[in-house]
Amino acid sequence: MVREQLIETTQYLIKKGFEAPEVGIVLGTGLGKLADELKNPIVAHYSHIPHFPLATVEFHSGKLIFGEIEGVKTVVMQGRFHLYEGYDPQQITYPIRVLHSLGIKKLLISNAAGSINLDLKKGTLMLIDDHINLQGGSPLAFKEAPLLGERFVDMSQPYDKKLCTALMAAAEKEGISLKKGVYASVIGPQLETRAEYRYLKLIGADAVGMSTVPEVIVANHLKLPVAAISVITDEGDPENLETVSVNDIIKIAEEAEPKMMRLFKEVINKSI
Ligand code: HPA
Repeated sequence: MVREQLIETTQYLIKKGFEAPEVGIVLGTGLGKLADELKNPIVAHYSHIPHFPLATVEFHSGKLIFGEIEGVKTVVMQGRFHLYEGYDPQQITYPIRVLHSLGIKKLLISNAAGSINLDLKKGTLMLIDDHINLQGGSPLAFKEAPLLGERFVDMSQPYDKKLCTALMAAAEKEGISLKKGVYASVIGPQLETRAEYRYLKLIGADAVGMSTVPEVIVANHLKLPVAAISVITDEGDPENLETVSVNDIIKIAEEAEPKMMRLFKEVINKSI
């Protein structure tokens, strides 16, 4: 079933002109502008793409955009799907399987996250070096998963070493501070309590967010090299916890977006 659906979705997009992209990019909360940089863009609204879920988050636009960045054919997901919208882990990662079917060779993911490691201040970028899945489910736990890749996927190096090294080098070159860290994924949509921030610190997380991990698991299932960057939008200091609104999160992410865009652009045309 999933295989047939993937063929239908892919054929629809190829007919629209999404031909042989090399890079896929997922844009997180407040991080939609990179899509404006695409040359000769072709837009597919999620609501028109067969078998795609519908984006229900008000501030996430739901568009798949094909075009060129730095002369490289790229597909950008402007808006992603989250478990807190009521979808299951398999549904929210369907677009990653579609990007892979279209032929991408590498995947770059971004998100907004709260810091647990308080050295990571608001507006900082964090390269995700490893993760902790606290979402209580797996995007690979379904009957047909073994038809699409191995069942027991190795996760000893979930984030591609070469892509991560290239992003660190890009940060150095551009004079952008990029710290490595561990990202914990929760379901949300509520933010964390003080006790939860203490717990996340204890288990070794540097940042927390509500996305990315299912997408990275599926990329590993597909043996698709992936790297991910978090924009730290709020600080989860349990001893001085400030109230956070989603508008604050979006504002900080938007301010940090140009830095993230520069890093992604640097690695898009590298043959990794
Ligand atoms: N917690 C969870 N998700 C988030 C946060 C946070 O503090 N900030 C942005 N996304």
